[in-house]
Amino acid sequence: MLNDTDIVVKRSSRKRSRDGFRSNLTPSRKKASSTGGQCQLIAAKINEYIEITPEGKAPEYCSDNEDLFGGYDSILGDSSFLAKLDDAEKHMGQLNDNCKRQSLGQDHMPKPAPSKTGPHGNVVEGLTDSILVGCLEDDSFQDLPSSQIEFQQQVCGVNEVDQCQSVDGRHTSTPLVQMTREAGTTDGINSEEAAKRAPKARRSMANAIKMAMLGNAATSSSCAAKMAQQQKDMVVTEEISIAVQTIQAVATETDLGPFFGLPSKVKDLIGRLRGIDDLYEWQKTCLTLESVEQRRNLIYSLPTSGGKTLVAEILIFKEIMCRKKDAVFILPYVSLVQEKVRGLASFGLELDFLVEEYAGSKGKFPPIKRRHKNSLYITTIEKGHSLVNSLIETSRLDGVGLVVVDELHMLGDGSRGAVLEMTLAKVLHVSPSTQIIGMSATLGNVGDLQGFLKAENYTNDFRPVQLIEYVKLKDSIYEVDSREEHCLRFSRLLNYKYSNSLKKMDPDHIVALVTEVIPSQSCLVFCPTKKNCENLAGMICKYLARAFLQHKEAEKATLLKELRDCGNGAICPVLKHTVPYGLAYHHSGLTSDERRLVEEAYSAGVLCLLTCTSTLAAGINLPARRVVLRSPYIAADFLKRSQYKQMVGRAGRAGIDSMGESILVLQDKDRPMAEKLLSAPMEKCYSNLLHDGGKGLLSLILSLIGLNVAQTLDQLRVFLSATLLGVQQAHVCPERSLADMAACSVETLREKGLITFSAEDADSSLLLITKLGRASYKGSVDLTYSSVLYRDLSKGLEGLLLNSFLHLVYLVTPYDMVSQCKPDWMIYFRQFTMLTVSEQRICAVIGVPESFVARKAAGQTVKKSQAVDPEVASRLYLALVLHALLRETDLWAVAERFQLTRGFLQTLLNSSSAFCSCVLHFSEELEEFWPYKALLLELTRRLTYCVQAELIPLMEVTGVMEARAKQLFSAGYKSLAHLANAEPRDMAQAIENLSKRQANQIVASAKMLLQEKAEALQEEVDDLLTKPTDLPSVGS
Ligand SMILES: Nc1ncnc2c1ncn2[C@@H]1O[C@H](COP(=O)(O)OP(=O)(O)OP(=O)(O)O)[C@@H](O)[C@H]1O
Ligand SMILES: [Mg+2]
Repeated sequence: MLNDTDIVVKRSSRKRSRDGFRSNLTPSRKKASSTGGQCQLIAAKINEYIEITPEGKAPEYCSDNEDLFGGYDSILGDSSFLAKLDDAEKHMGQLNDNCKRQSLGQDHMPKPAPSKTGPHGNVVEGLTDSILVGCLEDDSFQDLPSSQIEFQQQVCGVNEVDQCQSVDGRHTSTPLVQMTREAGTTDGINSEEAAKRAPKARRSMANAIKMAMLGNAATSSSCAAKMAQQQKDMVVTEEISIAVQTIQAVATETDLGPFFGLPSKVKDLIGRLRGIDDLYEWQKTCLTLESVEQRRNLIYSLPTSGGKTLVAEILIFKEIMCRKKDAVFILPYVSLVQEKVRGLASFGLELDFLVEEYAGSKGKFPPIKRRHKNSLYITTIEKGHSLVNSLIETSRLDGVGLVVVDELHMLGDGSRGAVLEMTLAKVLHVSPSTQIIGMSATLGNVGDLQGFLKAENYTNDFRPVQLIEYVKLKDSIYEVDSREEHCLRFSRLLNYKYSNSLKKMDPDHIVALVTEVIPSQSCLVFCPTKKNCENLAGMICKYLARAFLQHKEAEKATLLKELRDCGNGAICPVLKHTVPYGLAYHHSGLTSDERRLVEEAYSAGVLCLLTCTSTLAAGINLPARRVVLRSPYIAADFLKRSQYKQMVGRAGRAGIDSMGESILVLQDKDRPMAEKLLSAPMEKCYSNLLHDGGKGLLSLILSLIGLNVAQTLDQLRVFLSATLLGVQQAHVCPERSLADMAACSVETLREKGLITFSAEDADSSLLLITKLGRASYKGSVDLTYSSVLYRDLSKGLEGLLLNSFLHLVYLVTPYDMVSQCKPDWMIYFRQFTMLTVSEQRICAVIGVPESFVARKAAGQTVKKSQAVDPEVASRLYLALVLHALLRETDLWAVAERFQLTRGFLQTLLNSSSAFCSCVLHFSEELEEFWPYKALLLELTRRLTYCVQAELIPLMEVTGVMEARAKQLFSAGYKSLAHLANAEPRDMAQAIENLSKRQANQIVASAKMLLQEKAEALQEEVDDLLTKPTDLPSVGS
């Protein structure tokens, strides 16, 4: 449906304002439109067009019992319809001309109000209260300069002008009154019948135009004798308006559609796009909980793969479609955000809302204000916090009706947990009407979270595919059974003959465990380290029969080719060896392109086994028939129960497997710990505001002061008492009171120059943020680095050299990555000598002269007088890496040259682009840093994509990585418009190894992005054309 048509930016309400604009430019049309019987002809003509819309007449009105969204405008409907509207306008123009020529007045029409025209021929009377009529007529008056208004006042009299203006002010108030009244009087439908027809929740453009024209027809001709009647009418109109608004408000709060209050179209879409035809029982129960229906905050906890996300998505649709509010969806990882943006783009297109990505360097603060559409912001935890801050700052947080948090137990996850806690505490405090919904795996102390979020709890242990957990000890397999004394019940012996060499290579019988399922079924093997993933994948392949090579041979050859293409001819030797067997490793050492290829190949069954680190379990949805935990450790730490649960939870693919199984491989020495792990109660989740020396608390207090949410110690204490820390204070930090913590933090912030006490305040209890403080919280800069960053940027201003990117790149190289990479001085020196003279000068300005690097490379000691700050030297080394990446855009070649892993380079690039956008927001708050704005805007873009410029427009589409962008570009899809208008079937045919499903997602995401950009431009146009409310006028 979606893809069968060209992209058309949906313009139902947008068109309205544009028409308003047009009407200002073409007063003759309006003049005609208010002129009696000829306009009835126009109305009839318009009706003619409206009646042949694909939706037919029916959607204009519908009864309370009907599915009110049944005829919801789709893109398809709109495109043809807008064309017809254009035609209608042309006809209208012709008819208007006729109107001018012919005489006016027809007896059977109601006598219209006096029609006076301004100096430009603008209609100043004959007003109605319809939105559209308002646009068609009143805006023309709005746009007059004040001198003209004065003239109007003389012509119309002050009262009339007032009237005009007051009607102006009600543009959005009573669109439906007009509809009901006039339908009764002009369409030959009696008023009773018209009254029966309940207003449609969202009126189509056709209706709007139709009603506007009918309104015009009904209010034309004749003169001031009707003045009193008109005023009376206005009072009645106002009353009806209020009544209609009340009905509307009640209607939108309650169940409007057959699918949990939503139109059946949503159910159809879930079936078509997700392949889900029926909800699980628990999902139905949850969606009809009283707390959900009353919009109270809710936490729902279910085991992994229970289908939690779908419930949240349905609630989001409801918030956006029924309550016309925005929604925020917080997910813990960039990859998850991107997956969700891709997955929900089609829903947004069909259900007429925008899906906006807030991850990495993407996302605008504050978000663009969309007057005609609602947005779903899909965001990481960090970006979600900045988003909420920016909405508080612009007093727009109440526009967000719903905040959904996936993996709510992330509250207990170090500094990210602290950021999530701050975000939710602010939402609770600033916008209590915003509903908060948290999803989580089962937690041991959900009561604490309930206390914090003032939420109800729903729990169910449903799992669509049964999970059986096993443990392997020596060559015996035990089933985990909580009823047994040690939780374990003997199940079977491993039946596999091992040669002596194999026994030596694979003492843990991993080969035996995996070959019980692969290649026909899928398997994930979790390993404690990245290196272990690579080694294990290689080792397993050594002992696989040659028959494995023949399984899906052609697809694996294509995958290898794609891996080679994305490495510009280079391929990881491990993957080169393992992929032909259907195996690969998956960890943060892969480039984004490799990662996507491996994930897609695994999902498609081309790869049957992945060796992976625990990050896969928390990342995207990649289930397996069997999950093997190669050891009960992550690096050197014994597994936590939540980590264990998350990993084993990947076993069992809904809709594919009848059951899933997990096997934890144990050594004898680990058995006691493992038994504890298996029988331990669910983990508890604690506040992290005091984590890492109370960094979270400091930045929370800083932003509360900056946002004017709390400005005295007492207000801070009250705010803190409503955080998770406040709820758990007796447990987390019994020795200190919240007031004490707040006072200490305020003192620290003051010492750092981030806040001050107000000088005007007599008892100096009012806290104020300094410019540096504001810049720090706006840029989400770690407070440890804010003054260093300020110093570096100031120094940069004194001698910023712009004949290369190097200097700027140095300024946005993340401080926290410096410790992760020790310079190789030989490489440093070699790279240094390859720099241009001006680039070498940049290095000297930064504080690292060539002589220093040369001495270090030669192993000579550096005199104290020539010593260089090691932090600065290391940071410059990373900047050289980034600079090379920007110049060459070849990750593999640069990794080779600097002897670093490509995964590290990928991480460096990702965090640099994110930090660059932070530095941009930081410098925007400090006037002296104005030159950085334009420079950092462009640098963020370059670091985000790091490809040839021609590929950037394609890579802006969520989920399109470099390799895919190259393929698309060379197949002729060269711009966003190409992607948005593409036919997915053709695209899938033109691009090697691109499935129809993936093509659909690319096209839908591109359509969404294009629409979002077009809408933003339209908002700008509307803003430009809106009359300021505080326009000075003569006599006022
Ligand atoms: N009613 C349903 N019928 C069939 N499949 C469903 C249904 N609801 C959800 N699913 C599918 O089940 C799978 C798991 O769902 P989801 O990712 O929402 O689980 P989850 O509870 O969030 O698990 P986790 O804690 O692992 O994130 C998804 O592929 C989803 O499409
Ligand atoms: Mg989930």
